[in-house]
Amino acid sequence: MTKTLISGGTVVTATDTYAADVAIVDEKIAAIFAPHTAPPGPWDLTIDARGKYILPGGIDAHTHMDMPFGGTSSSDDFETGTRAAAYGGTTTIIDFAIQTKGDPLRKGLDTWYAKAEGKAAGDYAFHMIMTDVNDQTIDEMAGIVNEGISSFKMFMAYPGVFHVDDGQIFRGMQRAEELGALICMHAENGIPIDILVAQALKKGHTTPIYHALTRPQIAEEEGTFRALCLAEMAGAPVYFVHLSAERALKRVIEARDRGMPAYAETCPQYLFLSQDDLARTGDDGFEGAKFVCTPPLRPKAMQEDMWRGLRTHDLQVVSTDHCPFCMKGQKELGKDSFAKIPNGMPGVETRMYLLWDGGVLQNRISMNRFVEITATAPAKIFGLYPKKGTIAIGADADILVWDGEKRHILSESTTHMRVDYSPYEGKEVVGCPTHVLSRGRVIVENGVYKGKKGDGRFVKRSTFNLM
Ligand code: URP
Ligand code: ZN
Ligand code: ZN
Repeated sequence: MTKTLISGGTVVTATDTYAADVAIVDEKIAAIFAPHTAPPGPWDLTIDARGKYILPGGIDAHTHMDMPFGGTSSSDDFETGTRAAAYGGTTTIIDFAIQTKGDPLRKGLDTWYAKAEGKAAGDYAFHMIMTDVNDQTIDEMAGIVNEGISSFKMFMAYPGVFHVDDGQIFRGMQRAEELGALICMHAENGIPIDILVAQALKKGHTTPIYHALTRPQIAEEEGTFRALCLAEMAGAPVYFVHLSAERALKRVIEARDRGMPAYAETCPQYLFLSQDDLARTGDDGFEGAKFVCTPPLRPKAMQEDMWRGLRTHDLQVVSTDHCPFCMKGQKELGKDSFAKIPNGMPGVETRMYLLWDGGVLQNRISMNRFVEITATAPAKIFGLYPKKGTIAIGADADILVWDGEKRHILSESTTHMRVDYSPYEGKEVVGCPTHVLSRGRVIVENGVYKGKKGDGRFVKRSTFNLM
C-alpha cells in the first residue's frame, strides 16, 4: 500500500474552491482533510502544495495518435503523444479508433488497442469512427458499447474517405440511442467543399489560405443544423466535435434552447489562432501549412464567439483535436496544392496552459469553469465520471498540483510533442503543473518526466447520461 499526502493546497473542482490536504492510497483519492487535520503519517510521499492549486488531471476527449490520414500518419503515437499530454497536465485521452471502409468495426478497434497497449503514459479510452453504417456494423455497435466504447464519430466531410450520407447518420443515431451511446459529429458539408476546392485549384489558387476560403462557415452551419434535425428525428443526443464557427454555434444554442440534448466542444486553435495565421507566408510562402486543420481557422473576431459559448455553457468542452504532422516530409506534401496538406495540428500538451493563461488569467472564465471544460464535463459526457474528472473520495488520483503563476514560453523546443514546429512559437503563458499524478503515481515533477512507457491503461466508459 502506498500513501501520499498533497498538503497545503487549494482544491479546485468544477463547483468548489477550498483549502485542503488530499490523501491518496495506491491509485485512489482516499480522504480530503481540512487544513492541518491530516494525520502525521507515516506517508510514503508528501507533496508540498502551498501556494498552489490541486486540480483534477485534464481529460482530452479528442485526439488522433498514430492516425493514417492525408497520405501519411499523425506524427505522435500513443507513447510520445500521451507523454507530451502528461507534461501539459492531461492524464487521460479519448482517441478515435477508425473503421476502414468495408471492414468490420472490430478490425479497426483491434488495430487501435494494439497501437496503444503497452505504450501509453497516461490512461486512454476510445471513440469509434464509423465509415460504413450497414446491417453488419449496426449489429456490431452493441458489442463495442459493452466493451466501454460508448461513442461513435461520423463525418459529413471528407467524401470518399470518411464521409457517410444522411441515411447512414440517421441509422447510426437511432442505434446509438437504443444502446445509450453518443454520436460525435464532424458537421461540415464536404460535398460542396470538394467542388470549391477543385474550382480553386483550377484557378491556380494553391496556397494554404485557400483551405479556409474553400470551407466557408456556412458549410459547418448547414452540417450542424442537418445533424441536429437528424438527431431530433432519431430522438438521440448529439455531440459536435471541433466546433469552430459562430453560425454553427447559433444552431447548437437554438437546439439547446428547445431542450435538445445537444453538446459541443471547441478547440484551443479556434480560441487563440485565426485565418491570419493560415495566411502567413514565412520565407517560402508555405508557413500557413502549420495551421491547416479542419474545420479551418476562422476570422479573428470569431474567437470571442467561442469564448462566449464557453461562458454561457452552450459549449461544454475544450478538447484539442490533436493531429500533428511535421512540416518536413508531411505538411510539405501539399507544397503545390493546399488540398494535399495533411489536415491537423498539435495541441495535446498546450491546451491547459492556453486555457489557464488566456481563459482564467484574462478573466474570461473562472478557475472552476476551467476545471469543468478541461476535465469534469468531458468525463461526464463520455462516461468517465466520477472515476475521473474531479477531486473526490474514491476517484482515481489523477491530480495536478498547479502553479498558477509560473511563466514559461511555448515553443517547439520547450514542448514534447513529436512534431517539428509549435503553432504558438514564442508565446509566453502563465500557469503549469509542478506535479502530475496518474492514478497516484507522480509521472511529471517540475518539468521532468518520471513515468514510463505503458503506465497508462485502457479505461472502459459507461453509457451516456444526460448532464
Ligand atoms: O484537421 C483535423 N481536424 N484533422 C483530424 C481529423 C478530424 O476531422 O478530426
Ligand atoms: Zn473531425
Ligand atoms: Zn479530430
